[in-house]
Amino acid sequence: MSGVSSFSGVSGPSGPDCRICLLKNGDAPAVAALETVCFSDPWGEPEFASLEESRLDKGFAAWVGETLAGYAILRTVAGEGELLRIAVRPDVRGRGIARKLMEQVERAAREAGADSLFLEVRAGNKPALALYRASGFEENGRRKDYYRFPTEDAVLMERSLSPLEDGDGVSI
Ligand SMILES: CC(C)(COP(=O)(O)OP(=O)(O)OC[C@H]1O[C@@H](n2cnc3c(N)ncnc32)[C@H](O)[C@@H]1OP(=O)(O)O)[C@@H](O)C(=O)NCCC(=O)NCCS
Repeated sequence: MSGVSSFSGVSGPSGPDCRICLLKNGDAPAVAALETVCFSDPWGEPEFASLEESRLDKGFAAWVGETLAGYAILRTVAGEGELLRIAVRPDVRGRGIARKLMEQVERAAREAGADSLFLEVRAGNKPALALYRASGFEENGRRKDYYRFPTEDAVLMERSLSPLEDGDGVSI
């Protein structure tokens, strides 16, 4: 496992390539800073500061040059994966970075033995809903007034995962 995966086609401020790496504990300040830009109810730095030791959670970072362009956090428990967080810097959105992060999340969930992947999303978050539908998720429930700042329903989404097969390779 190399710990890094690159793909071309992302024109960021620091160059044409975007690298997807495992999130390191030392990335926590940059992730927490991006949280405040991307969410009205941001998580704090401690939530990201011990991912390397976690047995359940795994984090992925997307780097454009030296800039943290996005990240995603997966939790896998008892054969089920949950996407806890995904976000991309506003200035590099719409360039496929979240899609690449989702691919790594899916692969890591399959490697951890998950046969399904779940998430919750604000009912009014159209870009995220579009991303998830494009990634194969389907709505399977709602939680009324689940979110605060502002109060909003949660849409519950799920997709099934096929078992890993020879030739699928390994995640980073
Ligand atoms: C949701 C988010 C992560 C998408 O990141 P992104 O890097 O811009 O997404 P991508 O460029 O990889 O888009 C992948 C697909 O998602 C969908 N999508 C993404 N942004 C979209 C938008 N603004 N409008 C419509 N569809 C969108 C499209 O289907 C797109 O595929 P396409 O470009 O082939 O049409 C980003 O908007 C974000 O960080 N939002 C704030 C944080 C957030 O809401 N996170 C989700 C919490 S549940």
